[in-house]
Amino acid sequence: MNIAVTGGAGFIGSHVVEAYLRAGHEVLVIDDLSTGCRDYVPPEARLVVMDVNDPELSELLAEYHIEVVNHHAAQVSVSVSVEQPLWDAQRNVLGSLNVYEAARRAGVRRVILASSGGTVYGEQQHFPAFESHPLQPLSPYGVAKLAAEQYLLCYSRLYGLEAVILRYTNVYGPRQGTHGEAGVVAIFTGRLLQGEQPVIYGDGEQRRDFVYVGDIAEANVLALLPHAHGIYHCSSGQELTVNALLELLQQLIGTAISPRFAPRRPGEVRRSVCSYARIARELGWQPRTPLPEGLARTVAAFRRQMGNALVS
Ligand SMILES: NC(=O)c1ccc[n+]([C@@H]2O[C@H](COP(=O)([O-])OP(=O)(O)OC[C@H]3O[C@@H](n4cnc5c(N)ncnc54)[C@H](O)[C@@H]3O)[C@@H](O)[C@H]2O)c1
Repeated sequence: MNIAVTGGAGFIGSHVVEAYLRAGHEVLVIDDLSTGCRDYVPPEARLVVMDVNDPELSELLAEYHIEVVNHHAAQVSVSVSVEQPLWDAQRNVLGSLNVYEAARRAGVRRVILASSGGTVYGEQQHFPAFESHPLQPLSPYGVAKLAAEQYLLCYSRLYGLEAVILRYTNVYGPRQGTHGEAGVVAIFTGRLLQGEQPVIYGDGEQRRDFVYVGDIAEANVLALLPHAHGIYHCSSGQELTVNALLELLQQLIGTAISPRFAPRRPGEVRRSVCSYARIARELGWQPRTPLPEGLARTVAAFRRQMGNALVS
């Protein structure tokens, strides 16, 4: 299959690209490298440096005979969205709409959208949340993700474009940047490895649902199945406090550096945990990587990366 992955030079997108290549697909990466990295794109994939807002996007998709667009390109910071909601909407709402419009004009069959289970619900009323949970985002980022979902579902009803929406919780793993919506694992790991004090916003008792990036990549492969449609959570279904996460990382890294506490950031929810029952039932996906194993792989990858940075 010919697949375009927007944001394929980023953290999650690059793992998705690798999984698609392993499954035997041809992959075109479309990325403006605003936070992504050229080196994350495997040589077997083709990289075109382009903003997803570009009016030429449709011609590009047509030229490569793209059948499926996997849309990961976005500005991914909740706090940036609170500070600059117009910028966030330009990237995440208008950018997504341009992707769908380009896909429609280029005759693309399916769009897979990376959305966010951690932000579209706002403060959850039920634990874990199912995909039908009420939607009351607390941040412009959550609103933009929801708008991107709704436009895609509308394109599906209007034009028959197949729509698969994957709502991730907090994804972590190798190559995660420290700027992200859910970069807490990467940020803590980076600081602890450098012997610096990590910062916890709020009291650290906020709860998150951490899911390993390799498992997310597998969900994106299953999202190609003919019967995949609509909205699916990709999550661990388990909650962990940020304090407990820090303890796990301190043990793994072998350090006792204590955190500094700073005021809670606006737009962030208190407790987030999502059920993956639908995707398990319909597509046979489940999170296979236990947290200690995923964290150990992440720490090892960060150590390698930081070692390389010191050498070069
Ligand atoms: N990290 C998480 O826990 C998480 C959770 C839920 C959803 N998501 C979603 O997953 C996707 C990937 O996030 P990530 O954590 O890998 O972040 P990332 O910043 O590593 O990846 C985003 C990629 O998109 C590219 N990009 C950004 N804006 C672009 C534009 N306008 N045109 C072209 N390329 C652009 C960046 O250069 C980068 O390579 C995003 O849509 C994000 O909202 C992430």
